[in-house]
Amino acid sequence: MTSPVTVSTHNGVLIVSCDSPPVNALGAGVRAGLLEGLTLGLDDPGVEAIIFACAGRTFFAGADIAEFGKPMKTPSLSDLVVCIDNAHKPVIAAIHGTALGGGCELALACHYRVATRSAKIGLPEVRLGLVPGAGGTQRLPRLVGIAMALEMAALGEPMSAARAKDIGLVDAVTADGALVEHALGLARTVARQRPLPRVSEQRVVPDPEAIAQFRHTHARRIAGLHASTMAITCIEKAAELPFAEGLAFERATFMRLMADPRSAAQRHVFFAERQAARIDGIGSDIAARSVERVGIIGAGTMGSGIAINFLSAGLAVTLLETSADALKRGQEQIANTFSSNVAKGRMTARQAEQALALLDVKLDFDALGACDLVIEAVFENMNIKKDIFARLDHVAREGAILASNTSYLDLDEIAATTSRPSDVVGLHFFSPAHIMKLLEVVRGNCTAPDVLVTAMALARRIGKVAVVAGVTPGFIGNRLLRCRQNEAMNLLLEGATPEQIDCVHRNFGMPMGPFQMTDLAGVDIGWHRDPARVETIREALCAEGRWGQKTGAGFYDYDERRKPHPSPRVAEILQEFRKKRKSSERAISDDEILARTLFPMVNEGALLLLEGKAQRASDIDVAWVYGYGWPAWRGGPMFWAREQGFEKIAAALEMYGFVVAPNLRDVLETP
Ligand code: 3HC
Repeated sequence: MTSPVTVSTHNGVLIVSCDSPPVNALGAGVRAGLLEGLTLGLDDPGVEAIIFACAGRTFFAGADIAEFGKPMKTPSLSDLVVCIDNAHKPVIAAIHGTALGGGCELALACHYRVATRSAKIGLPEVRLGLVPGAGGTQRLPRLVGIAMALEMAALGEPMSAARAKDIGLVDAVTADGALVEHALGLARTVARQRPLPRVSEQRVVPDPEAIAQFRHTHARRIAGLHASTMAITCIEKAAELPFAEGLAFERATFMRLMADPRSAAQRHVFFAERQAARIDGIGSDIAARSVERVGIIGAGTMGSGIAINFLSAGLAVTLLETSADALKRGQEQIANTFSSNVAKGRMTARQAEQALALLDVKLDFDALGACDLVIEAVFENMNIKKDIFARLDHVAREGAILASNTSYLDLDEIAATTSRPSDVVGLHFFSPAHIMKLLEVVRGNCTAPDVLVTAMALARRIGKVAVVAGVTPGFIGNRLLRCRQNEAMNLLLEGATPEQIDCVHRNFGMPMGPFQMTDLAGVDIGWHRDPARVETIREALCAEGRWGQKTGAGFYDYDERRKPHPSPRVAEILQEFRKKRKSSERAISDDEILARTLFPMVNEGALLLLEGKAQRASDIDVAWVYGYGWPAWRGGPMFWAREQGFEKIAAALEMYGFVVAPNLRDVLETP
């Protein structure tokens, strides 16, 4: 087998170059090749300096995650990194693309670092439930100080080359095409300089205040994220222990976390997210259609949020409304979001200006004729949507993609109102649409393969994680949600309270419980609007104007700071319903709440697979992690269910009166 690593000599400088697509992950073969190249350079008296560089789209994007959890092959990354650090000749990292995780750690062990302007550098291990395992938490605070090291290693956010240069993480930034040339120039300048600047030999300036401040500022973000907590501890140790001992502490922590089920779950999500991008039955030969102008029908919260996504990604948007007032409100919402992004440092004022310049607002439906993709984001009503699609059919140019943002309705019925159902696709954004990562791409019976391919490519372009769903009420995410919400309601009738059920879900790791979520989304969603017709608890709340946070009352009472409080009125309503239904009140355990709300979701997930409405179980996980806040460290409902085991879930489902999906065992037990 040929090595992914090659060497070439340039006037006394050895370039050790790796070409291991797609991202130059530091797998066993790469590590062996790099060590061999390094040794060659160190042993050759004609070589005065060594450069590590990569071919393809990126510098090393980290350790090879696919190797995790398997027996480690030598040389280990930490051994390789130590050899680089100890080298007696200058070693330079030439960084382009993304130097992440082990790639960043390898660069930190080099004596000099040069990066292209577009490069990004970071330690994202915490997102995999890990801490850096090749010296990142020990070298980084030595090079950039404890505060910056915390930001990088405990939050896992990569930083730009410009910022890396500002904080001293890289020595120089170059134009994108001039990296190797610049690295060669630097190599010649430093070839004979001694002593070599080894990060490991620098002193860490202790900064307990920065650590306390970091814990305080990010308390909510890192709560429950064990790996982030451990990354902070590793950085604390960097200040307390000699380098070698700090390194050993970090390594032991890394190995312990690697064996932790929470990391296995996060690694599952990493690969599941990438797998979700693949569309069954569609080959790589199907080309995407070109989309540069997007029309959006409806400038409400959803339509405006959707527009922000495309504008931020540099696509022109035509936003359409039926009244000037509604259009103005949408425009303001978009402008305010960009201003707030600028204020929060998420984008520059210039970038916001450029994005807003791409927005065109219109009252004239015919303006949609210039769009390559039109997304309907109006009220969830079949007749209105059908009417819009019939009109679109006349106005849209040939080959334009016609999309609906419906969250429940039958896409095929909508598509049938057009003469071109093959151009129709569902693009189900989640609210708030410019923030939530999930996009359900709904494949209708007639949706053309290239339309699907385009939708998936666009999702990537606007930074969404896309999952393909078939046409079924609620698609993937909301179909599971409905099961959970129904059972949560049943539990109320039997004696549980909204507070108890929500608390069980938060303790499980969800950002909020079922009733908090209902209050946030609106208790009145889907309500028939007749206060005299009260058959369900939800209808009783709606009839009294308890529509959720927006009216200051729902399943909870809200104070002026939107803090929820248990509601005596809701307690009365629940009592009335229990009496009416003759259901006796009983104490319900937290375990029962979890089993009755989550196991039916898993069962529904299996049915989705049986019906072919979801491509794979891991897609269901991705939908719930990115659309509903299912904790990534629990891997998603289907991954979590595998850990629970078929027998336990099936027995509980039967006990609570559910019919076990015929394929549930297969789904949970087939590797
Ligand atoms: N190991 C193995 N495979 C990886 C990988 C890695 N570190 N990073 C990416 N890949 C694979 C993906 O699974 C995908 O495979 P597929 O095509 O078969 O689905 C392929 O590379 C391309 O990945 P993306 O689709 O994500 O490509 P993008 O261009 O969108 O993004 C990236 C590139 C920013 C590098 C992104 O892939 C990424 O963030 N990768 C993970 C980086 C990371 O977490 N590094 C730390 C690893 S842990 C570590 O280093 C431990 C150390 O401290 C000891």
